[in-house]
Amino acid sequence: MAYAAGVDVGSTQTKAVIINEARDIVGRSLIDTGANVLHAAENAYEEALKDSGVREVEVEYIIGTGYGRYRVTFGNAQITEISCHGRGAVHMFPGTRTVVDMGGQDTKAIRVNAAGEIEDFCMNDKCAAGTGRFLGAAAEALDIPLDDLGSTALQFTKAVRISTTCTVFAESEVLSWLGKGKKIEDILWGVHQSIASRSAGLLRRVGVVDEVTFTGGVTRNIAMIKALEEKLEHKLNVSDESHYIGALGAALFALDRIVSSRCPRDAVEEKA
Ligand SMILES: Nc1ncnc2c1ncn2[C@@H]1O[C@H](COP(=O)(O)OP(=O)(O)OP(=O)(O)O)[C@@H](O)[C@H]1O
Ligand SMILES: [Mg+2]
Repeated sequence: MAYAAGVDVGSTQTKAVIINEARDIVGRSLIDTGANVLHAAENAYEEALKDSGVREVEVEYIIGTGYGRYRVTFGNAQITEISCHGRGAVHMFPGTRTVVDMGGQDTKAIRVNAAGEIEDFCMNDKCAAGTGRFLGAAAEALDIPLDDLGSTALQFTKAVRISTTCTVFAESEVLSWLGKGKKIEDILWGVHQSIASRSAGLLRRVGVVDEVTFTGGVTRNIAMIKALEEKLEHKLNVSDESHYIGALGAALFALDRIVSSRCPRDAVEEKA
């Protein structure tokens, strides 16, 4: 049995998955990328191998993706994260035609065909206003752990309207609302709504076609799922594995290459 691996080195977190020939995930890992991108890639891959129980020699092809994909120096090839998120999303949810990937630094809106190939995409440029980083800045200002962000925000009664579109100013706006006596949950829900609005705008630029699949680390935040569903007026496909969809897409491309190397074009042409 051959195995394939995908390593998604994101600006914030690095994800690795190992898949078998049946395209099932048999091992996964998630670590913070930190300052040493090469170490993050190596550690994530080693952790995923340990999790799978697969030996290194059994992994025939490794593909790196994400902003740090060229630091997957032990890999065989690199593919952009847009392609990998599209491929992974259609594999996990075959009805997917639109993908929204919300990571630490970027939000990407992607339209795909039934094969998971990219038809169009759009991303926020140079500004983390609609991303996990903006949420992280607000969470830090309010002293709330990342894991509790979503459940806290969902306790809102009346949303506070957040006007800043800049991550750098998010903290001071949040603190100023706190100083005016607003409740933490109402401020937080406002932050989620503001990010959801910006992401919905990005998605409308590529066209929102059902089914819509949500990928990336922010899928772990239940308030973001609700806020985005409300703004888009579409249900979102999300699973416990959604954070790994980019790495899964990379692993699927890696498996394609293993399979095609077993069936060289010459042999096919000879038969024909
Ligand atoms: N348990 C959690 N609860 C809520 N949010 C989370 C959780 N874990 C991660 N996140 C969010 O996910 C973000 C990281 O997501 P992801 O791993 O997709 O980013 P990335 O791939 O490193 O970034 P990019 O694609 O922008 O380069 C964090 O910034 C954080 O906001
Ligand atoms: Mg990413």
